[in-house]
Amino acid sequence: MSKAKVECKTEGNYIVVPKGLVNVIVDETTISGVDPKGEHTIYRGYTIDDIGANASFYEAAHLFLKGRLPCEDELKEIKRAIDYWRGRVPEKVLDALKHVPATHPMYYGIYGVSLLGQFYAPDWSYDPDFIYDHAIRIIAQLPVFFAAGWHLSRNGTLPKPDPNEDHAYDVLRMIIGREPSRTEARAFESTLVLYMDHGFNASTFTVRVIASTLSDLYSAIAGGIAALKGPLHGGANEKAMVMFLEVKERAEKEGRSMEEVIEEYIREKLAKKEKIMGFGHRVYKVHDPRTDVAAKYIKQLKDGETWLKVIHRAEKVMKEAKNLPANIDLYTAILYYQMGIPIPMYTPIFAMGRVVGWSSHYMEQVANNKIIRPTEKYVGPTGLKYTPLEERCKR
Ligand SMILES: CC(C)(COP(=O)(O)OP(=O)(O)OC[C@H]1O[C@@H](n2cnc3c(N)ncnc32)[C@H](O)[C@@H]1OP(=O)(O)O)[C@@H](O)C(=O)NCCC(=O)NCCS
Repeated sequence: MSKAKVECKTEGNYIVVPKGLVNVIVDETTISGVDPKGEHTIYRGYTIDDIGANASFYEAAHLFLKGRLPCEDELKEIKRAIDYWRGRVPEKVLDALKHVPATHPMYYGIYGVSLLGQFYAPDWSYDPDFIYDHAIRIIAQLPVFFAAGWHLSRNGTLPKPDPNEDHAYDVLRMIIGREPSRTEARAFESTLVLYMDHGFNASTFTVRVIASTLSDLYSAIAGGIAALKGPLHGGANEKAMVMFLEVKERAEKEGRSMEEVIEEYIREKLAKKEKIMGFGHRVYKVHDPRTDVAAKYIKQLKDGETWLKVIHRAEKVMKEAKNLPANIDLYTAILYYQMGIPIPMYTPIFAMGRVVGWSSHYMEQVANNKIIRPTEKYVGPTGLKYTPLEERCKR
């Protein structure tokens, strides 16, 4: 856990918290967070790596939304519901997506969820079962919007969900445009679970702020996607892959090994004081346990041993130079590359998992709500008086 010194000042009746809310606890949650030793992220009592390695997407979604792992009949039901809704995106929503300019696929998630809200959200309720039903629709359909965005902007076609397939398998199939192997599908599913939640990160906090105004879930999730889109939040896995591809190209051109080149590449970047994407973490200062789960799958896929050697050399250099561990994004970058997933889809995939966490946080927030409305310290001028236009800006 971060050992940074806690600064907390008061001014009159106000508490002045550090910029960026660093080290500020804003609320309690039973959904996820770091254990008191600061070593593991906990998903509703289980370690993130235990659930990431063993749970299916449906089991993990049930754990988040209902608070516990499902029994057999509950598992059947959540699977039935997610698969059913994945195949039921309203035609008008898909049609609308055809008429927007081709942009980054993250935008299609924002548009898609917002449009869906116009179909379902006007008569909103805060009943947990009602919210759960709508969460399932969004969780099921968000990947279709992202996949649609990718394919529409490339070749104008829309992917067709197959409700008879498992969620992760079908989503991966829609993205890569071929039948994935079962190993690829399980590896993909595992990363969706590893991305599902992570305490009060920026997008989750955004969702909770929107929920606290008692807006509907569709609006809150659209806000969450918008926050995740920023390069300081999602997006590190995309940038890590760009690094690996530059290393690959240089190694091939110069007839050298990728291990040798990545060491040189990282040292060059560090000498220029640049950050290496896929390293460092606000919480994991020694080791990110999610990387162990991802490494297991990299090994099973194309050129796995080779890529793991490159990753391990990068980790060795970063340990020596900065004492920083790799994070999950370094590993998912390679995993998604091995599956043939286009780089602009890496952050949308993060959202396809995180939407489960966002939905759970929405439910927790509205169940025990207090509008999140901090107070500012105004430091601008005072005492100015309105002047008519003709008297203003005289030169
Ligand atoms: C994740 C991250 C934002 C955590 O931030 P943080 O806990 O606030 O850590 P800081 O940014 O304060 O970094 C602390 C020190 O390590 C350095 N550092 C952190 N991450 C680094 C990285 N990826 N590459 C090089 N140096 C890094 C900082 O420059 C700083 O050095 P200094 O003390 O000499 O100024 C940060 O490590 C980062 O930007 N990583 C790259 C992006 C990334 O992979 N994000 C995905 C996270 S899952």
